[in-house]
Amino acid sequence: SNCLVLLLSAISTVKSSINEEQANIKRSDFANGFLFGAATSAYQVEGAFLEDGKSLSNWDVFCRIDGSIADGTNGDIAVDHYHRYMEDIEIMHSLGLTAYRFSISWSRVLPSIEPFVTIFHNDYPQELEDRFGGWLSPLMQEEFVHFAETCFENFGDRVKYWITINEPNIFSDMGYERAQYPPARCSPPFGNCAIGNSDVEPLIVSKVDGVLSISVHAFMYIPLRDDKNDEEAANRALAFNVAWTLDPLVFGDYPPEMKRYHGSELPKFSSEERALLRESIDFIGINHYGTLYAKDCIHSSCVCNDSSCTQGNDRPIRGFVQTTGQRNGVSIGVGRFYVVPKGMEDIVLYIKERYHNKPMIVAENGYSSLVNEDDNNQINDVKRIHYHQSYLAYLAQAIRKGADVRGYFIWSLMDNFEWSSGYAIKFGIYHIDPPTLNRIPKMSAVWYKDFLGNSSLVD
Ligand code: NOJ
Repeated sequence: SNCLVLLLSAISTVKSSINEEQANIKRSDFANGFLFGAATSAYQVEGAFLEDGKSLSNWDVFCRIDGSIADGTNGDIAVDHYHRYMEDIEIMHSLGLTAYRFSISWSRVLPSIEPFVTIFHNDYPQELEDRFGGWLSPLMQEEFVHFAETCFENFGDRVKYWITINEPNIFSDMGYERAQYPPARCSPPFGNCAIGNSDVEPLIVSKVDGVLSISVHAFMYIPLRDDKNDEEAANRALAFNVAWTLDPLVFGDYPPEMKRYHGSELPKFSSEERALLRESIDFIGINHYGTLYAKDCIHSSCVCNDSSCTQGNDRPIRGFVQTTGQRNGVSIGVGRFYVVPKGMEDIVLYIKERYHNKPMIVAENGYSSLVNEDDNNQINDVKRIHYHQSYLAYLAQAIRKGADVRGYFIWSLMDNFEWSSGYAIKFGIYHIDPPTLNRIPKMSAVWYKDFLGNSSLVD
């Protein structure tokens, strides 16, 4: 608790260094029932490798292939959430969180914290990869329905909120196009990788009284140059990244922007599939971290020859590149995910407009720091506090403009295994002490607790 007192005293310093309106963002700027939580996923935090009958997962196998993970680590122990979940729930409780987003391998939470469960968050049995070739096989879809049904049957009485698949737009891209996630295959863009949600929907309607969604990785895109071509490129970038996942689930088909350029390459839905897909989610889960520039590659050539062009000419087929470059001499943002707080308002309003203000939940929002970025072993994470305050201020602004947003989850409750980056990238509001795996609150945890309005900051 000495640590908390020290951190608390530092909060006033934090408040003075950012825009006053943002620093003054308050819990009361959001509705009473608005969910405020933190998020994790099973493989990233649990550890307990092969314990209690667990079989090998795709990530267990992938991590053992030389060169897969930047720092050569894996999730065998991770942060030992499997054994320390009670302590972690106490932490959540002490912060005043009203919800906890986790994926299904861990299932018991205190009743006062709303469990918000992800069914598929990157890890699945390696056996399904070996037998069927994973998501490229229709048999995998059957297996997934079986798994979802098992979850609904066993936990449906206690779990109201479900995210069936986390970021299908990212894991299909990373696993099947960029070879950075298992199965690390490269297949043509938009091959059979598009993953629908439709088969799960009738199950949740008949088997649980729940609220169902998917979460989409949603960067905001803005034009690099002040011209029509780049404006269109930014619209295409949003359609190809965000609407690619959401249009089928709301309208029953791929976005017109994608059909216009790649109609014949996209998988075709039958009319039964379209009917099943249409309006198959109750809310939209948005994982938002940052903003990128889009630059047109249809009317001008796009050769990415500087390091800010993050996903360059490997995909000119989509008619844009995304870059952090400069516009009017100013760089768009800072950090790994290009911190642009207004992007939160923009992406929420884009989704509001496109999907007729379907209820939304910000299922992830977080600031990544590198090891040694901050003083005192990452505990004084002032930049992370600024990030959440300013992103929340723009979220509140979107809500004032009519967006129906019902909740917000910080990624992540604690530092954890960041997929192919291993443990080198930190998102947590709790630091994990390496030898003991003790949970140590960062200044951001104290800020979140303060923000959530607990009467006593020091227990
Ligand atoms: C997306 C993913 O859902 C999560 O697993 C990941 O750790 C964070 N965003 C940060 O990259």
